[in-house]
Amino acid sequence: MTPCIRLDTRNLTSVVSDAEISALQPRIRKLHEDLEAGKGKGADYLGWLRLATQTPDSLVDDLERTAAAIRNQCDAFVCIGIGGSYLGARAAIAFMGNTFADQVSREERGGPAMLFAGQNISSDYHADLMDLIRDRDVCLNVISKSGTTTEPAIAFRLLKEKVEQKYGKTESRRRIFVTTDQHKGALKKLADNEGYKTFVIPDDVGGRYSVLTPVGLLPISVSGIDIRELLGGAKEWESLGSRTAGLEENLSYLYAAIRYLMYQKGKSLEILASFHPSLGYLLEWWKQLTGESEGKEGKGLFPASVQFTTDLHSLGQWIQEGNRIVFETFLLMESSRRQLNIPPSEDDGDGLNYLAGKSLDFVNDKAYKGTAMAHLEGGVPNLSIHVKGRTPRDLGQLIAFFERAVAMTGYLLEINPFDQPGVEFYKKNMFTLLKKPGFEKGK
Ligand code: PA5
Repeated sequence: MTPCIRLDTRNLTSVVSDAEISALQPRIRKLHEDLEAGKGKGADYLGWLRLATQTPDSLVDDLERTAAAIRNQCDAFVCIGIGGSYLGARAAIAFMGNTFADQVSREERGGPAMLFAGQNISSDYHADLMDLIRDRDVCLNVISKSGTTTEPAIAFRLLKEKVEQKYGKTESRRRIFVTTDQHKGALKKLADNEGYKTFVIPDDVGGRYSVLTPVGLLPISVSGIDIRELLGGAKEWESLGSRTAGLEENLSYLYAAIRYLMYQKGKSLEILASFHPSLGYLLEWWKQLTGESEGKEGKGLFPASVQFTTDLHSLGQWIQEGNRIVFETFLLMESSRRQLNIPPSEDDGDGLNYLAGKSLDFVNDKAYKGTAMAHLEGGVPNLSIHVKGRTPRDLGQLIAFFERAVAMTGYLLEINPFDQPGVEFYKKNMFTLLKKPGFEKGK
């Protein structure tokens, strides 16, 4: 396998030495064995470890067939879900797609506009969305593992009503797709009663590790991305990740070791920074993966993200000179898909002729290097994750890289990286305030 990912750790040595990283190797080896043997914390949720490797061809065929039919059938595809049932698909579609996919014509896009609902309870958001799809041919994909999450349930009720008013019950059944648990939950029951086409989220895969299940694969395929290539990349990293715990080769563990040591040294906030807007939702996905997995028992790095160079003109000030509790991880693309060069100008009125003939990638790379140096000098150690490009294979490897790194960081912190007990607290209060049956007295 050719890795699509490499790490540059040279800007860390002021805080974390190579010797300290190597000293963690025996512990990581032991934790790796526990992870692989299912002996660590949260062992019921390790399906993601071999998800791409074990996805049957028949499921990929079914997903691709369904996606192709949806692409023909509609010009707006609304994915309804929140958290892990939303961010992975959105990140993948933004990572690989046209930046302005929703603004270009259907012909140019080659498929429906990809829209999202149920990731908030905003009346304006959902009312605007319903206006937007009023005159479009619509399909819905409602995604919820538990099948009981309030936000997507409300959005689905609203959108289902619109779709049924427009097409009638029978035709609506051809336009509604459900991704949920195989056996339980209100959504599963509703899907069975209505006869909707349903895809299953495996029992042993938690929400934020589910992008390579139908949760992510169906929307990603509908958007026109090759999911076989995506799974192919993930499979490569899955086998590398399980074959060796060695920190020179298993970069997931090297990244985990660095994050753990940073945390031990009081760098309790990690900023993931990119220089490409197409990575914006991947940063959001990473924040959910790390924050929900690691923030427990009073421990865990706080995951933040910035999009450079945009945020160099806002949060850049804080990173340069604010509270020194942070380290930075740059997520870099080795090359853009399309190249633009800066043209010469006869009068050089803007003074940019010194860059004439240079590519935007060249300038962006210097912006990264200048930023990394400045932040290091300001007391912010940094590392870089270099990704080859924006192909499905690159992304597949990157997803598997991060998932394994976060699992290992959680094990180093001695917490269960696969549960999320803290998420229930707001729900309980909200249900009490809403007088949900069973929660009247704050049960
Ligand atoms: O990672 C998780 O488990 C969560 O973020 C869930 O994905 C999120 O809460 C949505 O849950 P569900 O898919 O059950 O609607």
